[in-house]
Amino acid sequence: MPLITRRNLIKASAVAGAYGAGMAIAGRFGLAEAAPEPRILAARKTEAQIIEGPPTRDIMTWGDGGLPPILRMPRGKPYAARLSNNLDEPTTIHWHGLRIDNKMDGVPFITQPYVYTGDNFDYVFTPPDAGTFWYHPHCNTLTQMGHGMTGVLVVEDPSDPVFDAEVVLNLRDWRLGSDGQFIAPFRPRDAAKAGTYGTIRTANWQQEPKYDAPAGGLIRLRIVVTDVTRIFSLKMEGADATVIAIDGNPVPKRFPLDLLQIGPGQRLDLAVRMPDGEGAVATLEDIRGTTPKVIASLRATGQSLKRDIGDLGALAENPVPKADLSSAEAIPLVLSATAENAAVESICGTLGYSFWAINKVPWPGDTSDPTAPLAELKLGKSYVFNLENVTPHAHPIHLHGMSFTVISSSTREVVPLVSDTYLVQPDEKVQLAFVADNPGDWVLHCHIIEHQKTGMTSYVRVV
Ligand code: C2O
Ligand code: CU
Repeated sequence: MPLITRRNLIKASAVAGAYGAGMAIAGRFGLAEAAPEPRILAARKTEAQIIEGPPTRDIMTWGDGGLPPILRMPRGKPYAARLSNNLDEPTTIHWHGLRIDNKMDGVPFITQPYVYTGDNFDYVFTPPDAGTFWYHPHCNTLTQMGHGMTGVLVVEDPSDPVFDAEVVLNLRDWRLGSDGQFIAPFRPRDAAKAGTYGTIRTANWQQEPKYDAPAGGLIRLRIVVTDVTRIFSLKMEGADATVIAIDGNPVPKRFPLDLLQIGPGQRLDLAVRMPDGEGAVATLEDIRGTTPKVIASLRATGQSLKRDIGDLGALAENPVPKADLSSAEAIPLVLSATAENAAVESICGTLGYSFWAINKVPWPGDTSDPTAPLAELKLGKSYVFNLENVTPHAHPIHLHGMSFTVISSSTREVVPLVSDTYLVQPDEKVQLAFVADNPGDWVLHCHIIEHQKTGMTSYVRVV
């Protein structure tokens, strides 16, 4: 029998202690990983220089007072963020496009209580997919997002191809008067149409910013439309750009960016081959509307790296389950305008109007008395949304918690893109297939926030 000395006893209990702690963590996250330190996201008001002249007051953000931080995290590892609310109204955070636990989805009443002034909420999740995502509140969103609370989230994969540089563009407008201060967030007559546009366009809170990038290099350009209204038609001048991912998921086959429409909530990842000449400029433009608008530009610096787009390895596919179309059940999803005019009061803000509906039911979302779910889905079963837009406006329809695959459209050829947001055009019918693999109540809504908040919201229940 080995001699038990005091020294050996201490060693033995230290091992047992460490093992015990590891077990506790494994139980909570389902993984033998150390509990991550939470990233503190303090929601607060601030001022910032958006246009020349006096700074804009009443901006809302998280962190040090500037542009919301880009949150970077590895795929498949637990991540923790602590929302601490220093605003004078309730808020939450929704992690747009992340297929995570329902309790972490950030929708008041549906998945969590509001986080009141002075309170904290700990979000802990393990992102299953790599790609470009974003985060924003899901309470009083026209105000909170309109005043600044839209941040980019990047999930990295160690096997991602290596670029010579990366540039992230958070695209959004601001509704400011000539004195640089916020004006009315919307006009009802516009909310009943395409939505109310901002007066100042920005990328990363700057007007037409310029970034340096290595000449002849391959740049990963991560573009996120976080605006509450604007749909972009993107084009690159002065460099070849290849679309490598849309809405966080690698495209089935890469293609050159000619002109691509992306709406609020959507993301576009481009591989940009910078021009060879030092000082040459590549410009990202929005050509929707009459005159092209410069969004941001990249200036070539240094000696050409002489890279070739063919050098670039593939992005790893995300583990999104494939729907079984032979057994999939169809769920109709008709987007329409509604004549009804009553609006529901909500602590998360009401716009006071009801202009839109899904399957004829107008619901503004985040109220304490949600309407019945649009459908009850069986966990693990395949479904197809038969989405039909009978309005004369485009709607970026976003589903929480699960990703779908685009399988057909009545108006265009489709590739099987995997996504969480589909920009459905006027009079378009589209089929979106998915596996109901994530239990809980998941909202789906138009990401033009005025449409969402005046009725174009619903939810599905997965049990
Ligand atoms: Cu990006 Cu329900 O939201
Ligand atoms: Cu809409």
